[in-house]
Amino acid sequence: MQNIWKAISLMAIISGSLAYATTMVSAEATKTEDGATVAGKGAEFDADAGKWYLESGDPTYHVKADGTLDFLTYRGFQRYHSECHVCHGPEGVGSTYAPALVDSLKTMSYSDFVAVVASGRTVHLPGGGESVMPALGDNKNVMCYLDGIYAYLKARSDGVVARGRPAGKEAKPEGLGKTEDSCFNG
Ligand code: HEC
Repeated sequence: MQNIWKAISLMAIISGSLAYATTMVSAEATKTEDGATVAGKGAEFDADAGKWYLESGDPTYHVKADGTLDFLTYRGFQRYHSECHVCHGPEGVGSTYAPALVDSLKTMSYSDFVAVVASGRTVHLPGGGESVMPALGDNKNVMCYLDGIYAYLKARSDGVVARGRPAGKEAKPEGLGKTEDSCFNG
């Protein structure tokens, strides 16, 4: 009996790692010189903000080859699970109630993402019901961490970060601490 369970759990582990290995990484994800992956071209670390930005000006994740996340993205992982998970499901996979943000971010821009979260959106359903994304623009626990939430979801959407707990995180940049403090106190 025990052997059967061992075999079953081994199969689950193997199929889980196959699924991980075959996860498609977005064509836009780019490797930096140090072997890390970022969401697109021209990524640079802005020490004042404590965040990585792309050439386009959008914030990005910066994930090392061993899966270590930059602190902003790790923060986003934590904050997503405290502020959004209840409706959008674990790790952005969606629920019967709200869409899979992992899919949304395949096409949605950073500025549209920020706009929907800040202003909310109500869609009237054919049956007379409503589908409501609440406006969270006054919620500092969301807005002060929104770049991180975006970076985390984008990394999930790009196939760069798998489901589950991240492999590790980098130290918190001093600039990011200041950015967060001024957001909360400003
Ligand atoms: C109370 C439930 C609830 C919470 C909490 C919530 N959402 Fe939503 N969200 C929704 C629903 C429902 C929709 C779909 C609205 C519609 O039908 O257009 C939605 C839509 C969205 C969309 C648009 C997706 C698309 O494909 O157009 C984004 C982006 C989004 N939410 C981000 C977030 C983020 C980020 C958080 C956490 C900071 C969050 N939401 C928290 C319920 C929620």
